[in-house]
Amino acid sequence: MFKSIRIGAGRSPLTVVGVFAEELKLPRGLGKKDQATLKAALKTPGFKAEPGEVVPAGENHVLLGLGKKDDLKTETLRNIGAKLVKQLDRMAPKAVRLEVHRSVPRSVAGPEMVGQCLGEGMALGNWKVDFFGGSAAKPDDANPPLSVTCDDAGCKKGLKRGLTLAESVNYARRIAATPPNICNPTWMAGEARKLARSSGLRCKVINFKQAQEMGMGGLVNVGKGSDHKPCLIVLEHKPARVKKGVKLALVGKTLTYDSGGYSLKINNGMKGMKYDKNGGIAVLGTMRAIAALKLPVHVVGLLPAAANMVSGDSYRPDDIIKMYNGVSVEVTNTDAEGRLVLADALAYACKQVKPTALIDTATLTGGVVVALGSWCAGYWCTDDGLKKRLLAASGTSDERLWELPLWSEHKEFMRSKHADIWNSGPKRDGHPIQGAAFLSYFVDEKIPWAHVDIAGVSDVDGDKDLYVVGPTGYGVRLMTELAAEYAK
Ligand code: BES
Ligand code: ZN
Ligand code: ZN
Repeated sequence: MFKSIRIGAGRSPLTVVGVFAEELKLPRGLGKKDQATLKAALKTPGFKAEPGEVVPAGENHVLLGLGKKDDLKTETLRNIGAKLVKQLDRMAPKAVRLEVHRSVPRSVAGPEMVGQCLGEGMALGNWKVDFFGGSAAKPDDANPPLSVTCDDAGCKKGLKRGLTLAESVNYARRIAATPPNICNPTWMAGEARKLARSSGLRCKVINFKQAQEMGMGGLVNVGKGSDHKPCLIVLEHKPARVKKGVKLALVGKTLTYDSGGYSLKINNGMKGMKYDKNGGIAVLGTMRAIAALKLPVHVVGLLPAAANMVSGDSYRPDDIIKMYNGVSVEVTNTDAEGRLVLADALAYACKQVKPTALIDTATLTGGVVVALGSWCAGYWCTDDGLKKRLLAASGTSDERLWELPLWSEHKEFMRSKHADIWNSGPKRDGHPIQGAAFLSYFVDEKIPWAHVDIAGVSDVDGDKDLYVVGPTGYGVRLMTELAAEYAK
């Protein structure tokens, strides 16, 4: 794959022209000079213009299939971008010029959105996990960078935004893929500090001792069994010019590993639990993107980071612990640990940050995967204004969301006989909802709040157009678009 994809004209670029299936026509507005070559290429045997299909047209053009016109959506454009970059990898041009916006109906996407989707798709499709190769790795190809541009100013602007977003998603994916023998809470804090230095964010880390002193019983108890102690990472984006009256807090579950603790995960249930930090990683990637795009909105990111391990000092089922906001919790299952670290971070956000909207993302429950699969994340939201913006952001990024209920009955179900609440009910009934209900005890009712359970979408187990096996960075584009909604 290309070393990087960047905006730039480059010399003698390869021009990419979009063509619809069934029509097999050239768009209007292309230069006269190459018409004959392009028309001849339309007749390439076997070329059906399926989404992402690429055929050469002379020396310096390719035709790119867009599929059936009626089927084209923004998500198809991203997938086409990803397929395109994989074809280009074989052709190895130094630069490409995109002429795809000419073909796409405005009802699907204007030039700027076409550029953004293709930029996202190309950069997401260009990523793979190649940073843990050892002496047995295949020798690296030359791996040159690729320059992309578009003559249309709107499309070029979108392309730039799309590339920036995808770079942050890929940054998040790299950290997500980092295994637990390297990535522990302290390492995470180091990465956050590095990010802050390079992107102009502020970073503060509440360490284990401070968390103990502050009474963060959730974070402390979940993380204390590991040699690598837990911490709460706080990142802040506060540019000189910000939208008045808006302050977003983004909280992400950051379990660098979830063995289940004494309620140990059985069989192969533990494998893949390096991805239990992906909520926090999504927040980290979002902070990077928000800073890179210089969004004029005040945003605070909070990552409660811990490793849920087994040792003589680990917390146990039956422990009763006191949380940052004073609520007492009976631990019934040490594998329901995400809600405990999130609870302290949510309560801290409400008390210290006092946001106008609070969003958390977490790989919280296996139950959400059973209920919704990997087609969408489950979400809960307590406020119509936040919900409207969240759905608008989801419509833009095509990271899909599905709402689940949170009623007083659900909250009552979390009450324990021996403490205020328990971290997991005796039955697994509706357990993604139990997670949300538990968290609600730690959020100030006056603060608009959304909880997003990303357990089914934060990694994929088979290659897709946009994603290779591994982390997807789900949430980075969603939350960045959400911040952009609030900046409007
Ligand atoms: N990290 C898991 C949730 C998870 C499971 C994420 C599978 C991704 C894939 C979470 O901490 C957990 O173990 N949840 C339990 C909750 C239960 C004990 C109430 C679960 O899902 O079984
Ligand atoms: Zn767990
Ligand atoms: Zn977990």
